[in-house]
Amino acid sequence: MVTSALGTYNVRLYGPPAMLTRQGLPYSGKYFLKDSEKNFTFPVGFLFGTASSSYQIEGAWNEDGKGVNIWDELVHKHPEYVVDRSSGDVACDSYHRYRQDAQLLKNLGVHFYRFSISWSRILPTGHVNVVNQAGIQYYNNLINELLANGIKPLVTIYHWDLPQPLQDLGGWANPVMADYFEDYAYLLFSNFGDRVKAWITFNEPDSFTGGYGTSGYAPTFHAPGIGEYLATRTVLLSHARVYHLYQAYFQKLQRGKLGITLNIHWCEPLTNSTEDIKACERYQQFKLGLFAHPIFSYEGDYPEIVKLRVGQKSKEEGFRNSRLPPFSLKEIDYIKGTWDFFGLNHYTTVYGTSGEEGPIPSISRDAGVITSQDPAWYSTGSPWLKVVPWGFRKQLKWIAQEYNNPPVLITESGYSDLPNEGLNDVGRVYYYTSYMTEMLKAIYEDGCNVIGFCAWSFLDNFEWNSGYTEKFGLYSVDFSDPSRPRVPKKSAHVYSEIIRSRQIPMRYRFWREK
Ligand code: NOJ
Repeated sequence: MVTSALGTYNVRLYGPPAMLTRQGLPYSGKYFLKDSEKNFTFPVGFLFGTASSSYQIEGAWNEDGKGVNIWDELVHKHPEYVVDRSSGDVACDSYHRYRQDAQLLKNLGVHFYRFSISWSRILPTGHVNVVNQAGIQYYNNLINELLANGIKPLVTIYHWDLPQPLQDLGGWANPVMADYFEDYAYLLFSNFGDRVKAWITFNEPDSFTGGYGTSGYAPTFHAPGIGEYLATRTVLLSHARVYHLYQAYFQKLQRGKLGITLNIHWCEPLTNSTEDIKACERYQQFKLGLFAHPIFSYEGDYPEIVKLRVGQKSKEEGFRNSRLPPFSLKEIDYIKGTWDFFGLNHYTTVYGTSGEEGPIPSISRDAGVITSQDPAWYSTGSPWLKVVPWGFRKQLKWIAQEYNNPPVLITESGYSDLPNEGLNDVGRVYYYTSYMTEMLKAIYEDGCNVIGFCAWSFLDNFEWNSGYTEKFGLYSVDFSDPSRPRVPKKSAHVYSEIIRSRQIPMRYRFWREK
């Protein structure tokens, strides 16, 4: 048994190293790591998982009383927003195939499975006046099936699929959403909290609040430089409400942990000029600090540089007040410290240089950073995603220094197949082994408190505006076959080997970086 910031898990301690068992040598039960092995061996209690989200895998979009959410609405009314004009109507059909999924997760050997709950499957109107028992039943079945297979559920409460009736009231731009989010979370804790011991309030607020600015994400509400900040404010208050709710009414009995998942690319200064170094610092503060500083810093509130720049720009642009609405002192205090762990989604790195681009007003101008990537970096099937392992280590170090080394759970990291990569996805194997090697350096050499790693994604799935054209799964899914067969890729086997041996396999330790 191992107790970490994510709860108590049944994890085998060090080794035995795969090499020894494979040769059939006796294992004494004690293993002292040589220095050369140490940096490739995961620390005691380190946890492994894999992740998905409701809209991306469940399908059954209108079955058994589920209501309509903002992604249902977007893909049906505006198919042109998705490159292949596809939808999550059926996706991986996990709503009907959760038993098989649990079996595959067991085969992988993961300690936990991160999935999200579809708000409108449980509350079709978004409000607690109508509870859909079939929805409650589905998640009860899934949770029970996971536990029966020795896998702990890690539940994301909100992974982008807001009930459409709540969007009709303004969605996250409307502060009243905090009340509805609290009601929804209360229902989840009451129904599932006896078995779910780890919760994430929000997945990637930086991404989904973009849907109120310029991005093509639902609800595609275009109020750049204004909408994102309104939504950000509500999301932070909603997160804090739910953290306090859990502490006040559930923690004593259920003893779970609660955090939030934030996303960030590492931003490497394009040159060593002070301007570029400062620009990359602004990138971190506008994309990560906007959410992390109010929750994880000692002082709380938005980062100073963000308040300063948005205030100045707003004035120049003729606004009466800052487009970033301030928190009261009471609110700052209320949000500060509302975490048990820091969930991090990290995929890639960009170069940053000082400069302004984008509409006036916009977050991107407020931040004043222009980003690019090195064409020599290994590519993936996603234009934005280059394989840059060293950026991961730098990012982890930045978080440890900025927020006093909180326990960080990597809630996502992953790679999308190159065209025709098929089941022999060596690119993904390189991605995971090299990123994990850098993560181990962050742990052992920089002292970062990283407690677990979660591969995105369990299955190939609906990749938002990219539809089914970008495949992130450890398992491939044939979307042309009604039974949605799942087949493990090479990376699934390697990930499984890593989990079981608790080491980076010898043959993947010496990749050469570009
Ligand atoms: C972040 C999101 O949380 C997830 O939904 C998405 O599929 C992956 N990144 C890959 O883009």
